[in-house]
Amino acid sequence: DSERTLVLIKPDAVRRGLVGEILGRLERKGLTLAAVTLRTMSADLADAHYAEHVQRPFYPPLKQFMTSGPLVAAVVAGDQAVAVVRTLVGATDGRAAAAGTIRGDLSLSNRENLVHASDSAASAQREIALWFPAG
Ligand code: CMP
Repeated sequence: DSERTLVLIKPDAVRRGLVGEILGRLERKGLTLAAVTLRTMSADLADAHYAEHVQRPFYPPLKQFMTSGPLVAAVVAGDQAVAVVRTLVGATDGRAAAAGTIRGDLSLSNRENLVHASDSAASAQREIALWFPAG
C-alpha cells in the first residue's frame, strides 16, 4: 500500500551538490515527491525531530551539523515507502553501508551521512507533522 515517509537531504549533501543525485535515485526507484522544501533546521526543530537522541553523547555535534546550513526536506510517497527508502539510504555509518546505497556510495561518515529517512510509519507521521505542519 502507498505510504509516505520523511526524507532530509542533510547540509553535507546540499554543500556537496548531491541533492539532484539523491532525489534522482528516489525518483528512479519509482517513488514520488509529495512535498519538497529547502530550509535551515532551527535548534528547536532539531530537538523535536531528534527527541529520541537528545540525551546521546553524539547529539550536540549532530545538532551543530544539522543546523549548519540549508537542507532539503521532502515527503516521499510510494508502496512501502518507509522500508524502501531505508533500503536505498543504507546503514547509518557511510563507511559500513553497502555499495549501491546512497550512503555506501557517497558517504564516509556516521554523522555526515547525507540523508535522514523515517524509521517506521509512526516516525514518518510524527516527522512529517513537524516539517510540514500544514499538511
Ligand atoms: P539519522 O538517520 O539522521 O538519525 C540520527 C543521526 O545521528 C544519524 O542519522 C547520524 O547522522 C547521527 N548518528 C547516529 N549515530 C551516530 C554516532 N555514533 N556518531 C555520530 N553521529 C551519529
